[in-house]
Formats: sequence, C-alpha cells, structure tokens
Amino acid sequence: ASSHPQMEEGPLLMGSNCRAKGAAPGFKVAILGAAGGIGQPLALLMKMNPLVSVLHLYDVVNTPGVTADISHMDTGAVRGFLGQPQLENALTGMDLVIIPAGVPRKPGMTRDDLFNINAGIARTLCEGIAKCCPKAIVNVISNPVNSTVPIAAEVFKKAGTYDPKRLLGVTTLDVVRANTFVGEVLGLDPREVNVPVIGGHAGVTILPLLSQVNPACSFTSEEVNHLTSRIQNGGTEVVEAKAGAGSATLSMAYAAAKFADACLRGLRGDAGIVECSYVASQVTDLPFFASKVRLGRSGVEEILPLGPLNEFERAGLEKAKKELAQSIQKGVSFINK
Ligand code: NAD
Ligand code: LMR
Repeated sequence: ASSHPQMEEGPLLMGSNCRAKGAAPGFKVAILGAAGGIGQPLALLMKMNPLVSVLHLYDVVNTPGVTADISHMDTGAVRGFLGQPQLENALTGMDLVIIPAGVPRKPGMTRDDLFNINAGIARTLCEGIAKCCPKAIVNVISNPVNSTVPIAAEVFKKAGTYDPKRLLGVTTLDVVRANTFVGEVLGLDPREVNVPVIGGHAGVTILPLLSQVNPACSFTSEEVNHLTSRIQNGGTEVVEAKAGAGSATLSMAYAAAKFADACLRGLRGDAGIVECSYVASQVTDLPFFASKVRLGRSGVEEILPLGPLNEFERAGLEKAKKELAQSIQKGVSFINK
C-alpha cells in the first residue's frame, strides 16, 4: 500500500462521515497539471466548490504532497495521480477535466513560443481523455490556447470522440482583467462590471468590447486605447512583474475556478449561464473563436451573436482574425503533419 493514503493505490479519501453516507452527490473533476503554479490554487478552489464530489489531481511531479495537503480540507474527496502510468485512472469517470499542464512564459516570450513544448503535452493528455472520459467537458488553459484548443479538437477527431460542445478554451482571465481595469476607470466595484472579451487569448487576438460593457457606459478614445492595450497585455504585465518566475497563477486559478463552476452549473441544468470562451464557432469565418456562449447540460448549447461592434472594434476584429487563423492552422497541422 502507498504511504500516501489519498494517492492512487489508497482508499478514496472523503471529507467527513464517508462510511455512513458514501460519496456526496456532485461532479467528478480532474485537474491535469495539478501541482503547478495554477494547478495548486485551482485544486484548492475546486476542493471548496460544493458542486464537486470527487477531485482528481494529476501531474508528472509532486502530486503526493499537494494531494495530502488538500485532503485535509473538510470538503469533498480528493485523490492524487502521479506520472503517465496513472493518467488513465486519473481520467476515468470524470465529468469535467481542467488542463493547466505545460510551461509558462518568461519575460520576452510570446505565448506562441510555448507551442513546441505545450503542444505535445496537450496532445498526450487529450489522447487520454478520448480514451478514458470521452464525454467529459474539457477546459483548456495551457498556452497557446489559440492553438492548444485546435490541437485538442484534432486529437478527439482522430479518436472519433470529438464533440465541439464539450471542448472549451479558458479565456475567463481576459474577462476578469477587463472587469477589473474597467472598474478602476469607472470607479465601480469590478464585481458589478461585465466586459465581453472576444477573439482569442494572445495579444491582439484579445478583443474587449468596450462598447458593450454592462452597466452601459461610455469612454473617451484615450480610455479605450488605454483599456484595450492593458487588457491585451495583462498577461505580459504579470510575466514582467514575476521577472522569470512564471506567469499569472493566482488570478488564473480564480478565473479557471469561476469558469469551471459555470460549466458545472450548466451541467446541473441551471438556466442562463453565459460566459466568454474560445470554442468551435460559426460566429466568424474562423473555425474557433472566443465569444459569449450559453452553457448547459451538454456543454456549449448556444453561441451568442457578437452584437454591434463600433469602428475601433471592427478594425481590432480584423487584426485578431489574421493572427488567430495562423494559430489555429498551426495547431491543426501539428496533429495532421
Ligand atoms: P507551472 O510550470 O507552474 O505548472 C505547470 C504544471 O504542469 C507543472 O506542475 C508540471 O509538472 C505540469 N506538467 C508538465 N507536463 C505535464 C504533463 N505531461 N502532464 C501533466 N502535467 C504536466 O505553470 P503554470 O503557471 O501553472 O502555467 C501552466 C500553463 O497555463 C502555461 O502554459 C501557461 O502559459 C498557461 N496559462 C494560461 C492562462 C489562460 O488564461 N488560459 C493563464 C495563465 C497561464
Ligand atoms: C495570461 O494571460 O496571464 C496567461 O496567458 C499567461 C501568459 O503567458 O501571459
């Protein structure tokens, strides 16, 4: 038996009274890359989510320690999985799989510079999902998201399991940042602000729709330029501040937990769950695009129209589409080369 009771060989560790009641009702969620900078705080937040009954933590390093630590929280069950031989057990039976596995940027790098390492990681993990939990909802965080989501789609197509409604690129951090920065400019509590952010998740592909902010408001052109640039470069702002120690982890874990919770509420059948996400889409002529989607029992149940764009946003959309088309093609070619 393992010296770590909550690791794969051991019994499933429950939060409380498990002998009397068995597993609590709820969803089974796996985090792949769970010992990383995003993975650890995300594991913490998902362990606190009352919709989660069982949490699986998978990584190629350090899951025994992270799992032992998280297992002492008096919430649902958690189990750890270490290394490729345990990937299949980590995935079997999951309703939702969240993927923050992969290397982060250092100053001076673009997200696309991560492609060479992270594309292969995304492929391996998605092959596991296709085999062990083909019906799970998949939330892709690993960068470059503009390419890793198309990679996941191609892996699932090859395996014959692709359901575009169940594959979602996580762009929530762009919305979270946009809400924060717009709240600062307007003097509003960011919790009361909602900014749609469309396109993708890198540089100019991140397109905040400042003409559609809720509550309705107006900005000067200086404010539009400042806000658009700060939202597009929010990731770089953190990468530079961390000075070589990685990219956003805490705000990302918050954003990923918020998005995962929305997916779980959709799965439960709650009405009116709308989030921005990078998904297979016909809202533009590109095969993938981030925009507002309605989440439900089968994942993405509806892609909402972009709504009216002003001239500045229409110009931004053209720039975004140009870069996105290349990133999508790069991901598709990686699997089909
Ligand atoms: P990190 O290096 O701190 O953690 C990554 C974890 O992935 C590590 O624990 C590592 O062991 C693990 N890993 C590596 N290969 C693996 C494999 N084959 N299987 C399972 N796990 C594996 O990095 P981080 O800061 O947590 O960032 C992770 C990724 O998320 C990066 O690619 C980063 O660019 C991306 N990211 C995306 C967003 C977004 O908005 N979508 C935001 C922030 C970061
Ligand atoms: C972010 O937006 O913070 C992430 O994509 C990480 C990065 O490399 O900027």
